[in-house]
Amino acid sequence: MVYSKRNDGRKFEEMRKMEAKVGVVKSADGSAMFKIGDTIAIAAVRGPRDLHPKFMQNPQKGILRCNYNMMSFSVDERIRPGPSRRSREISLVTRNALLPAVNLDEFPNAVVDVFVEIQQADAGTRCAGICAASMALADAGIPMKDLICAISIGRVGGKVLVDLDKFEEDYEEGSTDMPVAMLPRKAEVSLLQLDGEIKPEEIDKALELAKKSCQEILEIQKKALKEKYQNE
Ligand code: CDP
Repeated sequence: MVYSKRNDGRKFEEMRKMEAKVGVVKSADGSAMFKIGDTIAIAAVRGPRDLHPKFMQNPQKGILRCNYNMMSFSVDERIRPGPSRRSREISLVTRNALLPAVNLDEFPNAVVDVFVEIQQADAGTRCAGICAASMALADAGIPMKDLICAISIGRVGGKVLVDLDKFEEDYEEGSTDMPVAMLPRKAEVSLLQLDGEIKPEEIDKALELAKKSCQEILEIQKKALKEKYQNE
């Protein structure tokens, strides 16, 4: 069946309402919150600091580590605490999505830790986590050549659309979820995953939609960063 109207009334190219805030975790070197619809991600950065054990150090440059976690109350059914296959995968793709923007050349033997906690989950948590992490890294003063923006492009009932919510992810006739992360300045893609099917001719449209959405996300990230530093 054709998905002619979105469940929550959004246009096909319309993202959910977003909010962002920088400096939400006082004990961290940098932190941020990114909310999209009912999905809320909090990111905290610690470092650069000496990496222990020493044999893991890189004398050429610093190391970036990422840890993604869903809080046990983030969905209706309690999430089992501790790492899972899914959280390990998302930690890895989060790191890979952030790395092309981050320059740790000045920090040999050091580590920068990024902790992403999902407080509320309603689809798109890896993208919200990447958006929050990128702002938290900037807040921590880590040298970066760009921010990183991320959004999921979907295909539901034959329609290509932006920012699936949980209803659309679970669409009974099946759906496709394609999370994309970008360094928006040059629209450089740093993450592209595909869960489901998409026609080759639809990929260009999907990436165009991702590029346009990332520009909107960037404005929200920049505004949140400026807000923190204007108030200091
Ligand atoms: O969150 P994201 O879309 O990046 O990743 P996913 O693995 O495709 O998960 C989609 C959604 O399923 C999450 O955002 C949660 O809303 C939900 N989920 C859940 O309810 N319980 C889990 N253990 C994992 C995910």
